[in-house]
Amino acid sequence: MALPVIVNGSTMTIDVDLTTPLLWVLRENLGLTGTKFGCGIAQCGACTVLLDGQPIRSCVTPVARATGKHVTTIEGLSKNADHPVQRAWLAEQVAQCGYCQSGQIMATVALLKASPHPTDAEIDDALAGNLCRCGTYKRIRRAVHRAATLTLVALAVAAPSAQSDNRSVQAFSTIASVLSSARCSNCHISGDVPLQGEDARLHTMNVRRGADGRGAVGMRCTNCHQEASLDIPHAPPGAPDWRLPPPTKRMAWSGLSPGDQCRLLKDPATNGNRTPADVLDHAMNDPLVVACWHPGAGRTPPPVSHAAFVASVRTWIEGGAACPQ
Ligand code: FES
Ligand code: FES
Repeated sequence: MALPVIVNGSTMTIDVDLTTPLLWVLRENLGLTGTKFGCGIAQCGACTVLLDGQPIRSCVTPVARATGKHVTTIEGLSKNADHPVQRAWLAEQVAQCGYCQSGQIMATVALLKASPHPTDAEIDDALAGNLCRCGTYKRIRRAVHRAATLTLVALAVAAPSAQSDNRSVQAFSTIASVLSSARCSNCHISGDVPLQGEDARLHTMNVRRGADGRGAVGMRCTNCHQEASLDIPHAPPGAPDWRLPPPTKRMAWSGLSPGDQCRLLKDPATNGNRTPADVLDHAMNDPLVVACWHPGAGRTPPPVSHAAFVASVRTWIEGGAACPQ
């Protein structure tokens, strides 16, 4: 029997028995193989898709139930795997074998629609029926929190409040105080030699930026900068993947006014094609940024806490990323 089904925004007419599971139709008739077959009895969640926005087990859902409704599969989330949930999944490197992950992602999309800022308990509850035999649950939880932030920022940027400009500009003054602190400005430099110390003196030992920002061959930043700062006076500060911005995107705001720092920070041409959500993600989660608040003995952290910095970045972006003059 010919049935109309709207899959990922396109109306399809499918000639199958009314009792055929939706999963079969998606995979066999439409070639949408991102949705997986796991147990076939609604126990594992691998086959999760959205039906009018609600997560369902497509392995036990007769196609007749989807007639005239909107079905969304993993393929329909985005064209370039850049849906906020997908980006968070990639950033947290959640997948191991990957088999369960499209189901986990679709369940998360539904969760964030119902609860934009879920607690750990809400996440565990919402995803309890999505099993992962590789045990990626901790990374999934981190990715859901990250996706929540990316989703909220994407929404705020799409529809900034008309009254929020002033709050946005004010928030940037806090951001500028952090960017101008020695912890940030010693590496965000226009030349090729990083600075060091509270007095911004030239780095010793003939250190150079290098082709990728990680130092010259044979003199990589990580030769001396370890994974974490040590509480030993004069030991080099540490963070995973210690680096300068690459030479093609220098992000050199040292010496700039707050307004110019702001314009540089929000321009994709100068910030490495980062969206505002990416900028917030960088401020929140990049270990190199977080390490500024653990600089080691004898160094001063930025003038406000990391939490206050992140809150300011969020306020700045949600107000439309307005810049001081
Ligand atoms: S395949 Fe549908 S729940 Fe397991
Ligand atoms: S990543 Fe392997 S089953 Fe979940």
